[in-house]
Amino acid sequence: MSDRQLLDLLTSTGDLQQELFGQARSVRHQRFGDEIVLRGVLEISNICQKDCDYCAMRRSNNSLNRFRLDVETIMEVARGITEAGINTIFLQSGQDTRCDPVLDEVIPAIANDLGAEVLLNVGERSKETYERFAQLGARSFIMKYETSDAALYKDVTHGPLDRRLQCMRWIRDAGMKIGTGNIIGLPHQSIESLASDIRLAFEFKPDFVSAAPFIPNPGTPLQHQPLGDLNLTLNTMAVLRIGLKDALIPSVSALEYVRPGGQLMGLNAGANVMTINFTPQLYREHYRIYSKDRFIVTLNHAINTAKMANLAANPGVKFRTEAPDCESLTNNS
Ligand code: 5AD
Repeated sequence: MSDRQLLDLLTSTGDLQQELFGQARSVRHQRFGDEIVLRGVLEISNICQKDCDYCAMRRSNNSLNRFRLDVETIMEVARGITEAGINTIFLQSGQDTRCDPVLDEVIPAIANDLGAEVLLNVGERSKETYERFAQLGARSFIMKYETSDAALYKDVTHGPLDRRLQCMRWIRDAGMKIGTGNIIGLPHQSIESLASDIRLAFEFKPDFVSAAPFIPNPGTPLQHQPLGDLNLTLNTMAVLRIGLKDALIPSVSALEYVRPGGQLMGLNAGANVMTINFTPQLYREHYRIYSKDRFIVTLNHAINTAKMANLAANPGVKFRTEAPDCESLTNNS
């Protein structure tokens, strides 16, 4: 794909955009049929050593109540996720190395006792730590590069992009599947820069890839920036689907925040994953990656959204009754 073609697709509207989405759906159909993958996310800590300008969990945000879940709570929720028939337990947190002793216990317990896939998104660590997580049974890890522009990365995260990319290679070398992706709508981010983000993903060939619209987060330096552009995000997702045919691509909750029905648009642009939030209510409101009124995805919402996209979201065999929403599951526990 030439630079010109890539830019044309990224900015496409109308018929060209519909053609792009149609092609993305047809690639998804060939590779995955008509079923999407469900993940259950549990946010295990909102403590963060980083200070990213776009994220309310940044360490200099003093207005947030911080939490770190213990092994028992994590296992109880993880069990609830598998009982809902979801086999990927997605543990997410701020970059909080004090979670590591907890992770060392819960990774093998989830992998062996519950027989579920452990997916981590817990930030930057040493090569040895990634190797240990993998040996303990973590199958996959998400580490977004956020932007491929080193100067912009440094500007908004105050750290080096190289370190991030190094971590991505360590994760892969440790034998885990790797997910990555960008944020669309960071300050001074050009279309050319977004095209480079896509090129980086094409070169790295991740197992999972995502594109998320930037959400201005109250309590952060970027709180007055405009929302990321929905069409640019959807076009990026479709191009990623066409270029990385076998990648799992989530239709992220931030799309629904940008516009009700946004996740349906994501599925229609070639996504094939939805992530259901199982974080207990008490902690959920303090986990502010997007904003305090971020959209919380329930199992019902995912199933209905998939249906509207003519796709199936099938929780596994353990799923017994009517689709409960995660509210009732987590509140019981
Ligand atoms: N807008 C969009 N995405 C965000 N993330 C964090 N804050 C924001 C925001 N304000 C994303 C980052 C991070 C992931 C967990 O959430 O890409 O890697």
